[in-house]
Amino acid sequence: MSLSQVARSIKASPTLALNEKAAILRQKGDPVIHLGGGEPKSKPPMDAILAAVNNLNSGEIRYAPADGIPALKQAIIRYTEEFYGRKVAPENVIASGGAKQALMVALQAILNPQEEVLFPSPYWVSYPDMVKLCQGIPVPVPAEDGSFYPRLQDFEQRVGSYTKAIIINSPNNPSGAMYSEEFIADIVEYCEKKDLYLIMDDIYHRLIFDGRKPINCYKYAKNLTESSKLIVINGVSKQYAMTGFRIGWAVANKKLIEAMTNIQGHQTSGPSVLLQKAAVGALNGIQSSVENLRVTLENNRNVMISRLKSFDGVKVYPPDGTFYTFADFSYYEKSSTKLSSYLIDKVQVLTVPGVEFGMEGFLRLSYCGGIKDITEGIERMKWALDPNSPNELYIGDRKLVRDWS
Ligand SMILES: Cc1ncc(COP(=O)(O)O)c(C=O)c1O
Repeated sequence: MSLSQVARSIKASPTLALNEKAAILRQKGDPVIHLGGGEPKSKPPMDAILAAVNNLNSGEIRYAPADGIPALKQAIIRYTEEFYGRKVAPENVIASGGAKQALMVALQAILNPQEEVLFPSPYWVSYPDMVKLCQGIPVPVPAEDGSFYPRLQDFEQRVGSYTKAIIINSPNNPSGAMYSEEFIADIVEYCEKKDLYLIMDDIYHRLIFDGRKPINCYKYAKNLTESSKLIVINGVSKQYAMTGFRIGWAVANKKLIEAMTNIQGHQTSGPSVLLQKAAVGALNGIQSSVENLRVTLENNRNVMISRLKSFDGVKVYPPDGTFYTFADFSYYEKSSTKLSSYLIDKVQVLTVPGVEFGMEGFLRLSYCGGIKDITEGIERMKWALDPNSPNELYIGDRKLVRDWS
């Protein structure tokens, strides 16, 4: 079979593949613990459900405008004013099938073949493949000091004549690192100076801990006119626990939004009107579920970090936000893919290999599930890896006895 060069350059999403693997193992009756997931387990806000039910009852579920229904655009405008202190017009907004599609159509609208897109490493698994889908070149930028916090100099060294855009995701998937105000200010100024697009993937911006406040990139922009190349991405998936609703958005200059709308119009049309109504319900409704989720995640983070610290060989970096932690397990095994497979085989705990995010030797562990999953999952991992842990482990009523050292 002959496939296109682009198709051949793209891998399956490792995180989606892992969800499928968990579902298959569970169907077989295996007592799997999924620490690889990327979605909160809480219920979506009642206002979202009611808005969708009302729309469903009306039976008026037709094609939506390619850039989103007016009510959702208004809700996004209000959100932008609340969190960024910025008043934008409906023509500055597009609603898409998740933040993923908003990012994808933004890249399709700005990239020519061979142009480069830079992003900090470790990075969200989809960025390299999204750039490749646009025939662009992904350029991961590790922090020179080996931390999860890059500095402007790290980017300056890699920007060249082919660089078209920088993507910043803070707090970051997979590390949970939230970049400093100073770094965001630097990168906004730098992109303006170099005339680069700056894509702020703010999907986790409210899920932050230890009293931190979301950072507003517009605060540091000198150019707030229609020639601004700042693109802000967000969505309802993470903060409202509405991953399956597939609603995200982008805010950018009108010309770019028009180009993105044209692309999306031919690609999928506007997202389902039913799900857009649900997003309006979430954005305009009672907001307590977001804070409840944030508090739960902060507590889960504390539990996971304290358990991980009890391993002799794991280097732990407490996350500032999100629901992931990225821990260095290279003391036990250098290949994160091998280690992840080993943990599934031995103790049925699913983790995502760090190599998928650009860093070998690490595992991404999610704490978006229940406390029981976190404590039991980490206990099983400890049993499988740490020779100092007890010789026996119970998984349900199955007793496992260590037969390796
Ligand atoms: C950094 C980042 N950006 C974007 C997305 C996509 O979110 P959505 O569900 O809105 O497409 C994800 C989802 O995992 C993510 O981690």
